[in-house]
Amino acid sequence: MNSNYYKTEASVEEYIKLAKDVNGGQLIEKLNNYLPSNSSLLEIGSGPGTDFRLLKRNYNVVGSDYSTEFLNRLRSNNIKDDFFNLDAITIETDKKFDGIYSNKVLQHLTDEDLSKSILRQIDILNSGGIICHSFWKGEGSEIFKGLLVNYQTAESLRNLFEDYFEILLLEEYNEFEDGDSLLLIGKKK
Ligand SMILES: C[S@@+](CC[C@H](N)C(=O)[O-])C[C@H]1O[C@@H](n2cnc3c(N)ncnc32)[C@H](O)[C@@H]1O
Repeated sequence: MNSNYYKTEASVEEYIKLAKDVNGGQLIEKLNNYLPSNSSLLEIGSGPGTDFRLLKRNYNVVGSDYSTEFLNRLRSNNIKDDFFNLDAITIETDKKFDGIYSNKVLQHLTDEDLSKSILRQIDILNSGGIICHSFWKGEGSEIFKGLLVNYQTAESLRNLFEDYFEILLLEEYNEFEDGDSLLLIGKKK
């Protein structure tokens, strides 16, 4: 899906304002149960960098995004840290990680692109590596601000991930409304 949302200064400023009171703290607490402290971790779609800073408390994190507008801000706000310019579909890096984390990023991928992303995630994870991804829960998809929002259910996520990952946790949580989101934690098979 090709859209300029997240790629222009105005849309990035709008998103940062919208998201200023939300963070992935509850997801990261769950991840801490499965991924040991000091592990290497790639965050996909770091956006404003709120979760990046929480993840840094426990992990050796590399942040990333496909938006140079977000990347410029991330780099100037976190001058000592590493940020890669990565598309979630192709994840073009030759580095390997113990874990991969994303919060409300992979809903922008079609199921076909998500399947490609899953194969790349397998490639760049060390043996027994852990993934932790959140999704909007629902059926079907829609276009919001020119961007695809591809909803997932527990069943659709199981179908997409379970050939490659042992599902360690797959549960609903609340972002804005009761049970509007899903958290998946898996271990590379
Ligand atoms: C809804 S925002 C979430 C940002 C951040 N994770 C958070 O929790 O606030 C989606 C983020 O994913 C990034 N993104 C969207 N599609 C992407 C893709 N194909 N590859 C990499 N990043 C992508 C956007 O630039 C944006 O930073």
